[in-house]
Amino acid sequence: MRSRAGGTGGHPALSGTTPADARWLDATKPPEDDVTSRTPHLTTARPFEATFRSAVRAAIRAPSMHNSQPWRFRLNGDAIDVYADPARRLDIADPTGWAIRLACGAAAYNARLDLAMSGRTAELVLRPDLSDPDLMVRLVPTGHRPATPTERRLHAAIGRRHSNRVPFFPEPVPATARRALVAAARAEGAWLDLLTGLGPLTAVGEIAHAAARVLDRDPGYRWEISAWSRGDESHVDGVPASAGGPQTEPQDLLPSRAFGGYPRAPGTEFEPEPLVAVLGTAGDTQRHQLVAGMALQRVLLALTDAGLAASMLSQPIEVPAAREQLRLALGRFGPPQMVLRIGYGQPGFPTPRRDFTDVIDDGHVSA
Ligand SMILES: Cc1cc2nc3c(=O)[nH]c(=O)nc-3n(C[C@H](O)[C@H](O)[C@H](O)COP(=O)(O)O)c2cc1C
Repeated sequence: MRSRAGGTGGHPALSGTTPADARWLDATKPPEDDVTSRTPHLTTARPFEATFRSAVRAAIRAPSMHNSQPWRFRLNGDAIDVYADPARRLDIADPTGWAIRLACGAAAYNARLDLAMSGRTAELVLRPDLSDPDLMVRLVPTGHRPATPTERRLHAAIGRRHSNRVPFFPEPVPATARRALVAAARAEGAWLDLLTGLGPLTAVGEIAHAAARVLDRDPGYRWEISAWSRGDESHVDGVPASAGGPQTEPQDLLPSRAFGGYPRAPGTEFEPEPLVAVLGTAGDTQRHQLVAGMALQRVLLALTDAGLAASMLSQPIEVPAAREQLRLALGRFGPPQMVLRIGYGQPGFPTPRRDFTDVIDDGHVSA
């Protein structure tokens, strides 16, 4: 059912990708947020604070379910701790914390890229202290070296990446870009299967629709989505109507999340044969789910860098029977962690974020 576009060649953003086992030993920092020029005392008193603030600003651009932003960050000596924020867990859609771990993995990936931009390498330690259930990832600085061209390109894509839920243009995604996305997932320790042909697409569409029907039967699930759907842009979290995309129509291949979507203009159909990708991992421990978040973010940044757009679809992951059906249909041993629709589209619509000072636990880091 799947098409495995192997190899790493092709897309310049991914040339020189680090091998899977080296992936947690590299890192980043963006000079565009020149915190030190505005707050010089930070550079003399605690040199790493400016780097920390910059890394957090990059981290919070990561995707999260319903844009719930379920993370907190703490400066721990020269390390950065990424915490899950249980107060922002989606009790109904995410009872196990799977979505929080994907979001925290993606946020840690952005932070790592940001550290790399300041010439710092870091080891990403996943679940470093099992006695602390909320501590997800620790970024431990390990040394200095200039950012690689790949890191620079991926970092530059952080602010341009947005979930794009509108119909894409019919142009197919070229083989070089497909191979690059598969390589991006692999470089972070995950797998990415690309579905080709109407048969596999229809099969996945049916699994996704069945999952969406199961979820939508639960009034609590529908209530949670409407609670995170924002009519306007005045909120700091949730999904504004502008980013919510159009309402699902019965003929759509894939179900979309009902973020209060607007009716579709006549004649604007979703592309009949989108590129659908399924991201998965070898297992489903908390660490695997953090890896899935890191790989998801790398794939999203790589496709953004390649001029592509994507929307995420997690209904078939949220319903265990659907997730198992999807796994079997793909012939995979490990579980799927996310479904993606990828293509060429209009620029996506940004979603808001809380101010970075609201997500920092370390009281002495000034705004
Ligand atoms: C674990 C997870 C599950 C998600 N599930 C869906 C989904 O089913 N449908 C959807 O449209 N977006 C989904 N998203 C995307 C989020 O809604 C999106 O990341 C968030 O609104 C922030 O917007 P941004 O991605 O444009 O920054 C998911 C994201 C994550 C991390």
